[in-house]
Amino acid sequence: MAHEYSKHEYDVVVIGAGGAGLRAAIESARQGAKTAMITKSLLGKAHTVMAEGGCAAALQNADPRDGWKVHFHDTMKGSKWLANWRMAEIHAKEAPDRVRELEQWGAVFDRTPKNLINQRNFGGHTFPRLAHVGDATGLEIIRTLQERGIHEGIDIFMEHTVRHLLKEGDRVTGCVAYDRVSGDLHAFSAKSVVLATGGITRCWSVCSGSWEYTGDGHALALWAGAELRDMEFVQFHPTGMVWPPSVRGILVTEGVRGEGGRLTNSEGHRFMFDYVPEMFRGDHAETIEESDQWVEEVVSGKLATVRRPPELLTRDVVAKAINSEVKAGRGSPHGGAFLDISHRGEEAILKKLPSMHHQFKELAGVDISKEPMEVGPTAHYVMGGVRVDAETQETTIAGLYACGEVASGLHGANRLGGNSLSDLIVFGKRAGEHAAKRASDLAQPGFDEKQIEQACYDILAPLNRGDGENPGVIYDEMREMMQQKVGIIRTKSELKEALEELDSFKQRAMATSSGTSKKYNSGWHQALDLLNMADISKVAALAAITREESRGGHTRDDFPTPEDDYWGKHLNIIWMEGGEIKVRQEKVEALRSDLEEALNEVKMMIQERAAELGGGK
Ligand code: FUM
Repeated sequence: MAHEYSKHEYDVVVIGAGGAGLRAAIESARQGAKTAMITKSLLGKAHTVMAEGGCAAALQNADPRDGWKVHFHDTMKGSKWLANWRMAEIHAKEAPDRVRELEQWGAVFDRTPKNLINQRNFGGHTFPRLAHVGDATGLEIIRTLQERGIHEGIDIFMEHTVRHLLKEGDRVTGCVAYDRVSGDLHAFSAKSVVLATGGITRCWSVCSGSWEYTGDGHALALWAGAELRDMEFVQFHPTGMVWPPSVRGILVTEGVRGEGGRLTNSEGHRFMFDYVPEMFRGDHAETIEESDQWVEEVVSGKLATVRRPPELLTRDVVAKAINSEVKAGRGSPHGGAFLDISHRGEEAILKKLPSMHHQFKELAGVDISKEPMEVGPTAHYVMGGVRVDAETQETTIAGLYACGEVASGLHGANRLGGNSLSDLIVFGKRAGEHAAKRASDLAQPGFDEKQIEQACYDILAPLNRGDGENPGVIYDEMREMMQQKVGIIRTKSELKEALEELDSFKQRAMATSSGTSKKYNSGWHQALDLLNMADISKVAALAAITREESRGGHTRDDFPTPEDDYWGKHLNIIWMEGGEIKVRQEKVEALRSDLEEALNEVKMMIQERAAELGGGK
């Protein structure tokens, strides 16, 4: 018997309601396109709120020496020279306008004494660059975009999960979703579809990702035949909570280190001085020093010096340093490091880091204005993702766009903190604009009953099996396996084991049973999530075994150095063919000559500055 489902017709359907999805939907509606936004969660609950510390943009409020060229340089360098340089250029040039636009739309950023948007220091940024709202920046951005979105007339489908993209030949023509509350099925005809579903970090057992982060958009793109890029690059944020176990992985914002937080080991040693990488000396000199003077200058609104404490080296460096200290037996009691901000005093902490103060007080019984926190690495962000065109955000499939964390390119092998919020607003806008422009020339696609029937059958399968394993058991085991074998430090033998085990997890995931009720049945939702997670975990493991070097968010114990100290040489391109996941390597495109000049200009400026300050440590 045919399944029952509701039909909807739109010019543009945006999947996901975080910063990227909201910004894309706003732009699409502003272009006059009939726009729907489908979100797995409730509006306002997006993972974007976890980007606490700020939004990077060269506004030049904290230091007039900043500018798009310096931001471009920092992003390329932070990416370990593997970012798509055109995306890094667009991002650096457009981020300031997008931040000012948010301000015009009502975002209440922290101010300097001269009443400009204040900017804080973050790892890998040459100048204080992060526009922020205390330590709740993502939350304020979501609030602002939501209010704006409501006035643009966007239709919103909350608590709906998209499970299938509809296609006509080589183009995407819509999607099929189910309502998580009632279990009802919905088919959407759309001229353009924008993926803005965020990341995949729920595939690891210790992660900062919220429950939605199960790789939905990555899997939808993969299943529809789109290419993904560099999925081996997973960022382990250095500071997640480690205690108590129920909150392990929850983010401790880099803003704590940006405001002067110091990391020490069980011997009280400030160990980050021992981990300053070679690339921060010589040609790429930075001044790493212990002085707190820069913090005081930023806080008092004077011009910042451009010194950097070792805690603000890039995240890959800090996460691996904590990992090494723990392995060497110098960790904190619960397997992390100590992070202390108490020297800043209660008043400053309550002003700049109120959420962190509250989080530790409520969840761990720790008063961070008086005692150190215990912190350790947590899976936080995937730099890889769906391959997109730098200008339009269109994927390798016509009519399918991607923006935000689900897309790839801007961050290369490692993302700088704060570049995610600016990524969302810069490329969310572009995706919405181009998706709407494309839609304006097209007729409304029809509903392909055969494809929709198959999608409905697949969605309902876990309810119709009658018998099978509990999906929760597989979920826990698979995430723990990923943590152990596809974690911060990887080896060929463990990656091989992971790939074999993922095949068996996939088989088990296809045979789960979750009762028969369609009404808010969380076991059913998890049974479906598992299918994406198994495939996307395999994509990450396959890309990791293929990249035989260590670079940014991918460290191979058996290939401990980069292929080349400077530029990344190749991309891993991953796709699905005949149900099989495949990978090939592609050469990185040479940098445009004017951008090479821009990089040289910035490097000279950094070297002169380092010389003025007495050289790097
Ligand atoms: O540490 C943080 O506040 C996270 C920010 C980011 O990932 O961009």
